[in-house]
Formats: sequence, structure tokens, C-alpha cells
Amino acid sequence: MNLQEIVDDIASAMKPRLGEGKIADYIPELARIDAKQFGLAVTTVDGETFTAGDASVPFSIQSISKVFMLTLALGKAGESIWSRVGREPSGSAFNSIVQLEHEHGIPRNPFINAGAIVITDMVLAGHAPREAIGEFLRFMRYLADDDSITIDEKVARSEQKTGYRNVALANFMHAFGNLHHAAELVLGVYFHQCALAMSCVQLSHAGLYLANRGTNPLTGFSVVSEKRARRINALMLTCGHYDGSGDFAYRVGLPGKSGVGGGILAIAPGKASIAVWSPGLNKVGNSALGSEALEMLTQRTGWSVFGH
Ligand code: DON
Repeated sequence: MNLQEIVDDIASAMKPRLGEGKIADYIPELARIDAKQFGLAVTTVDGETFTAGDASVPFSIQSISKVFMLTLALGKAGESIWSRVGREPSGSAFNSIVQLEHEHGIPRNPFINAGAIVITDMVLAGHAPREAIGEFLRFMRYLADDDSITIDEKVARSEQKTGYRNVALANFMHAFGNLHHAAELVLGVYFHQCALAMSCVQLSHAGLYLANRGTNPLTGFSVVSEKRARRINALMLTCGHYDGSGDFAYRVGLPGKSGVGGGILAIAPGKASIAVWSPGLNKVGNSALGSEALEMLTQRTGWSVFGH
């Protein structure tokens, strides 16, 4: 299988369609991004990286950060986290509040905003917000083996200014006793994790531990146990694309996590870590061309977890 040829073919197929979908415009820093960009990076568990298009351009990883914060929270608190957040797909939008009241402030899963805010509250335990942000940034640099990765402060500040729904979610959970720190402290960390800027190449490196039984084959670092890597992948498959998770599993067949910046991290267990980016979003807020590129990739490689 010639992976370079495959990623080149995918980028060529996407070229005439650049700009499709609707770019996130809730903050100026995202609204002003050139929609006509597409990047793809595939890093195999043997440590080879294949790229096409704008694979080295940093973008706002947004909700993809939720996978890595979940990894940190599991490292800190282990399976006890599941008393405060569920493991079921929500079938609702990423920022939905409707289920929270019925379910007594326990969010459905760690990848919707409410669940991610609870996870961030756990990572914050015993730290000042600044330290928790530093811990997250160091973790991402360690995973990607790249100290040039930074947080876009302007994005973080804008998120803070416009994040009324997140403030509502955090306070609502606080009322149920499922947030242990003040909403503004937790959200300060949450908005910074969303504002991390990474390229497809960096993101594909950072996700490798999930493709390789918990160990990053590029650095040899053991990040999580094999069992934990398998379980995080299961959550990404069932919950990683919000109310589009079923469709993504049907079309792509890989654990994946999307962000409103237009990035998607997808994991082909035992094979590769894949990052794709194109800013235009589909109806459920996932990268339109990114999802299609991944569908093409699994068709060509036979990497769907459900078989060829
Ligand atoms: O918290 C928010 O709503 C945004 N900063 C991130 C949401 C996001 O990426 C949802 N994913 N598609």
C-alpha cells in the first residue's frame, strides 16, 4: 500500500471543493481564517509520517483537546472519574444543556462541553488554573515531542468573552455539586485548552499512543496502559462527533474527535494516527471535507475498525 499516493490523491480530490461547509464564526479569530485550506497527516505506528496540503499549518484544536484532558484526568483520578461523567453518546449538540437537568448534573460523556468542563475541573484539583494550563501544554508538547506548540491567547480571550453557554453549563453543574471549583476558574482552563494551536503533523504525532496500545512509538514514551488506550478509543468512536457520531462511524469507521476549528483526530488502532484539517463545517459542526477525506482514506486503506 502506497500511503503517500493515497494522501496525495485525497488532497487532489479535495482541491476543487476547498471552502465547502460553514466556518465557525462565533469568535473573530476563527471567523477570519481562510476557509480554502486542507491538510492531512498520517503517522503510522512504525513512525513514518505522510502528509498532503496544509499539514504543517497550525490551527485551533478546540474540542480535540478533550481527548487529551480525558487522558490526564484518567491518569490523576483513574476510573473514579466515571462517578461524575457518563460514557454514553448524547445524540445532542456539543453545547447542549437539555439532558443535564434530567440527569442531575452528570453529563453524558467527556466529549460534550458539559462533560469536558467536569473533566477540566478534575485536572484542576490541587492546582491554580495557570498551573493546570501549564500541565496541559507540557503534556501536549511531550506527546507530540515538539516544544514549539503554543496556546493562542487571543483565541482563549475571545472564548472567554463569548462563552455564555459554557458559563451556564458550568454553573448548572455547580448547582448539582458536580463542579468543585468556581466556574470562572474551570472555564479559564477549558478555554485555554481549546485555544491550543497545532498542525496536522503535530496532532498526528500526539495521537499516536492511542493507535499503538498506549505507547508513542516515536519517542518510546508509555502514556497510558493498553486497556486505557482501547477504552479512550471506544469513547471517541461512540461520542467523538456529538450527534454526528453514528454517521461518522458508518462512513469512516474509526474512533475520532472533531473540533470547531475544522480539525479531526482519527485513530486506526494498530495502524496509524491521522489528523485532518479543513475549516468549513457540516451541519453538526464537524469538518465537512475532513470527514470526507477520512472516508476516502478508510476506503483506500481498509482501516475501518469494522473490517474491509
Ligand atoms: O467550548 C466551545 O464551545 C468551543 N470552544 C469548542 C467547541 C468545539 O470544538 C465543539 N466541536 N465541534
